Amino acid sequence: MDKMWAGRFSKALDKQADDFNSSIHIDSRMYKQDIQGSVAHAAMLARQGIIGSADAGLIIAELGNILDDLQNGNLAIDEQAEDIHMFVEAELTKRIGDVGKKLHTARSRNDQVAVDIRLYLRDEAAEIVFLIKELLGSIVHQASQHKTTIMPGYTHLQRAQPITFAHHLLAYAMMFTRDITRIGDAVKRMNLSPLGSCALAGTTYNTDRESEAKALGFDGITLNSIDGVSDRDFCVELLSAFATLMMHLSRFSEEVILWSSWEFKFVELDDSYTTGSSIMPQKKNPDIAELVRGKTGRVYGDLMAMLTVLKGLPLAYNKDMQEDKESIFDAIDTVKQCLTVFTPMIHTMKALPENMLQAAQKGFINATDLADYLTKKGIPFRAAYKVVGQIVGHCVQNNKVLEDLSLEEYQTFHESFEEDLYEAINLHTCVESRISAGGTGLASVEQQLSYITEFTV
Ligand code: ARG
Repeated sequence: MDKMWAGRFSKALDKQADDFNSSIHIDSRMYKQDIQGSVAHAAMLARQGIIGSADAGLIIAELGNILDDLQNGNLAIDEQAEDIHMFVEAELTKRIGDVGKKLHTARSRNDQVAVDIRLYLRDEAAEIVFLIKELLGSIVHQASQHKTTIMPGYTHLQRAQPITFAHHLLAYAMMFTRDITRIGDAVKRMNLSPLGSCALAGTTYNTDRESEAKALGFDGITLNSIDGVSDRDFCVELLSAFATLMMHLSRFSEEVILWSSWEFKFVELDDSYTTGSSIMPQKKNPDIAELVRGKTGRVYGDLMAMLTVLKGLPLAYNKDMQEDKESIFDAIDTVKQCLTVFTPMIHTMKALPENMLQAAQKGFINATDLADYLTKKGIPFRAAYKVVGQIVGHCVQNNKVLEDLSLEEYQTFHESFEEDLYEAINLHTCVESRISAGGTGLASVEQQLSYITEFTV
């Protein structure tokens, strides 16, 4: 096929260079947005009297037919085309002749591609937000069943203080709500139309960018035409939001992997989200969680690739920018794929409360509560902390836990100990008495649950 820009050249592009230059394999997925942008553009050109309204009508109707044909599989994307913009325009001209050639008045592929990606990312970001909301629904499903299920909370992966399983899960839910708002913030900044920036300097035609932007659902227009075609900050911002989301999914995956090991056995994953080993018959592997953890690296890579592509680019458009889509589309595909399997894996995961409780009973995780007990009897916290440290040391030496010592033994460490100490170090009491806002106590967990439920679909 002759290039649209062939006029200036005396020789065709080398075949391999042509393939190398082409982006159709990656940008054809924006065909809908490309047509949407062209329809709005043709309508604006007619409103402004730049092309005739009969011509615009013909262009718009045929663009609609092309869209239908692509969606129904009646028209195949030509893999030889340079990119999706060239393909749609060539198809239009093939169908309606010279009138089709009027569409590209007061426009360049530089502003066209900038519009297309924004429209495409707006749709995909909404889809990803929806998937995160579904994940929040699964977390709520689990957490609401485990509001009083006790497990050890960890710091340094050492048993630290008793918490509820719900409280732990809701910590992840909070992270995911921030992922939702982070994506929303990026979309807000992205949702301005660069259409009409043209190649880089604007145009001599009397265009109306505002109405065109409105027709495409943008909140306004970009104010500098050079920036309009050169800016890919929105890709960086979204990639960074996706990388953060993946980091959260990866931390969660890591815990699911630990929890489902024999060493922890806090949860059992459903058979439909685990795999077996080809040699070890006993194995039930958390591959899905591991792959989500692994694919996080890929999305970080996409973010780095995008930043690196942009870092040395002079203004305005440079062909390097065609690489933006490789990174952002890969990140979108990966994030969607991960969320689609991660959510049902969490939903169907079975918690094993007895094992959690057993682990909670062994690590002196009520030692802080014992110190608080003395403090409430008037002993300064640091002094109480020291006494409890001595008691823990004594227990470790004698292979005992705090609940095993008699009151007489306790009183040899401090005279303020009384019978009610056993109630104070009971794990259920420890959890229930954590009444501070945002703590693991029931009232706070209920409050968190209703906050998160607001985000679910
Ligand atoms: N395929 C190109 C891209 O994705 C479209 C813009 C091309 N513009 C140009 N002046 N060559 O960036």
